[in-house]
Amino acid sequence: METSKKVWIDCDPGIDDSFALLLAMKHLSVVGISAVGGNTGLDHTFRNARYVTELAGYGDIPVYAGYDMPMFAKPERAENIHGNSGLGNIMVPRLKEAQRKEHAVDALIDAFRYQKDMTLVTLGPLTNVAQALLKEPELKHRIPEIISMGGSVTTGNYNACAEFNIVVDPEAAKIVFESGIPIRMVGLNLCRQNSMTKDEVEQLKALPGLVAAAAADLLEYSVNQGRQSQLCDACAIAWLIDPAIITCALPMHVDVETKGEFTRGMTVCDYRDYIGMSPKEDIGREVCYPVDSGEKNVLAAMEFDKARFKELLIQTIKSYEV
Ligand code: BDR
Ligand code: CA
Repeated sequence: METSKKVWIDCDPGIDDSFALLLAMKHLSVVGISAVGGNTGLDHTFRNARYVTELAGYGDIPVYAGYDMPMFAKPERAENIHGNSGLGNIMVPRLKEAQRKEHAVDALIDAFRYQKDMTLVTLGPLTNVAQALLKEPELKHRIPEIISMGGSVTTGNYNACAEFNIVVDPEAAKIVFESGIPIRMVGLNLCRQNSMTKDEVEQLKALPGLVAAAAADLLEYSVNQGRQSQLCDACAIAWLIDPAIITCALPMHVDVETKGEFTRGMTVCDYRDYIGMSPKEDIGREVCYPVDSGEKNVLAAMEFDKARFKELLIQTIKSYEV
């Protein structure tokens, strides 16, 4: 399953971001990583991204620090889910001084200037990406596609409507969703179909090596928060590594709500084409009622092969030799 698919990953590690990085580094060609403030502040997300790459033996992948704060919104963090440092109980050691001083936005713009056929993966708030699109308007023609963990075709987690990555910086998300770049969206509607439990924690604990030990600690912390863990960001990366893990995806028009009193940060997904036919079915899987909803800017993941994903995850961690 090793592919040479080139990716740039923008992320806010974060427990599930860390699993996504571990999957990506093993199976894809990770050209660069940009850190953004989200789950916790940028100091931590940047340091954590570097820690995960170095721990896994991929310290040569460049990691850049981007924006800490959203464009306009007041910052929201998720330390209650990911721990104060962003990596649960792991004591992240002091790292050497960062060698890469370039701002993540400049690095991202440059990378897409020189690399062809590279996918942009976003696993955090969309601040860095939106700022890059504003700074270099040509960038949207150079990014062939974005795979984004964010939003939901159905309900949110931050509140009834909004998912965390979008609600942290709705203005940024709006810029990205309206950019014209094709987006494959892995929303909460998909991630909720995953559930990592104590079983997987035990499987990871039984594996040798530092990566497996760190993965076990992270997953245990996450499972203990809510009895199960969805590892949302890892689900998004899995779509690139093994497309068969997403068993159904539907094209639809998606807008980002930035003004609503109750709905700010919601991804408003127009799935009227797929309104279910049977009384119990809300979202069907085939077009049964074509509507003029505007351009279908998003391919939304809808169904998930959980067993296949878990196998990929465990086997990947097992394959690390450190
Ligand atoms: C998303 O929010 C963050 O807490 C996770 O890292 C993931 O990217 C899930 O809503
Ligand atoms: Ca994340």
